[in-house]
Amino acid sequence: MDWLKEIREKYQSQGHDPEIFLQGLFYSRPLTYWDYIEVETLLSLQHPRTDFPDEKVFIVYHQAIELFLNLLLHELQQLLNKEEAPPAWRENKLNRICRYADILNSTFKVMNEGMDYDQYNAFRTALAPASGFQSAQYRQVEILCTPAWNLLHPRYKTGGNAVNAYEDFYDKFYWREAGTDPRTGQPGLMLREFDKKYKKELLETLKQWQGKTLCEKAEFWQKAGELTPVMIQKLRELDNIYNVQWPLTHLQTAEKYLAHQGEEKTSTGASPWRRYLHPAHQRRIFFPFLWSAEEKENWGRQ
Ligand code: HEM
Repeated sequence: MDWLKEIREKYQSQGHDPEIFLQGLFYSRPLTYWDYIEVETLLSLQHPRTDFPDEKVFIVYHQAIELFLNLLLHELQQLLNKEEAPPAWRENKLNRICRYADILNSTFKVMNEGMDYDQYNAFRTALAPASGFQSAQYRQVEILCTPAWNLLHPRYKTGGNAVNAYEDFYDKFYWREAGTDPRTGQPGLMLREFDKKYKKELLETLKQWQGKTLCEKAEFWQKAGELTPVMIQKLRELDNIYNVQWPLTHLQTAEKYLAHQGEEKTSTGASPWRRYLHPAHQRRIFFPFLWSAEEKENWGRQ
């Protein structure tokens, strides 16, 4: 390939003088790792609120997880946006999605074993009412994976409850229980702050993906004979990691730090966390059509 010729033709066809671009190339500084990866910016984003060294572990790990959630969403959006694709392409995307979900679960030791108990319990008091509960990307994954109906609190799924508008769904999602004062039925500070920042955006996300979620697409592929055994296996794996394994790992970590020696501490988000965080309580299932009635009945009980 004559690259100089190709470059000249490319810019000429766009109505530009190729010599200017070639000159710019001559003067350009060499690309460096630190500029490309923005290492200094990345390492300037940690702002502990106390002097306990392990608070840095807590912040950096949350940031790393947000980056992996972002990659998971990046793959999910590509998978959902592509109307026509060979099965191998879809399998590959599901593989990547599962790998990112697995990273959430398999690295959680950084939290469970990587922080000093006393330091954690001291610096966390400076963080209320902030909580991982307020991760919007975590909620976006849910919204892209399954119809809003599957995310309703179980109490709204029974007895002919009609849920129509997007806002109505949003107000009845299972996770609102964690941020609602059971005595007054009113949202607490953690949830109010979350709604202020993300409700509008999440309602948009909900509107954009209803009817086109991964669950609905997979059902469509199944009817069209395009859902391969590998895809079924990967979808079940994703459901299991995101909705059972990670919640259990996360709950065990919360128990280690917050329920030490029989004493149950109030979490930073002030939720009834021990009951709420258990997958058997939440019964969050992205792909119900891929599980037997018995498997669904025993969801999260291990
Ligand atoms: C020592 C480490 C951690 C503890 C003790 C902990 C504890 C908790 C607790 C008690 C809740 C319930 C809400 C509340 O009352 O605050 C919660 C929710 C949550 N946390 Fe963590 N957490 C930890 C680390 C993390 C990390 C690293 C992430 C990753 C981003 C994370 C993501 C979440 C999410 C997404 C929820 C909502 C879960 C749901 O609605 O099912 N947490 N966490």
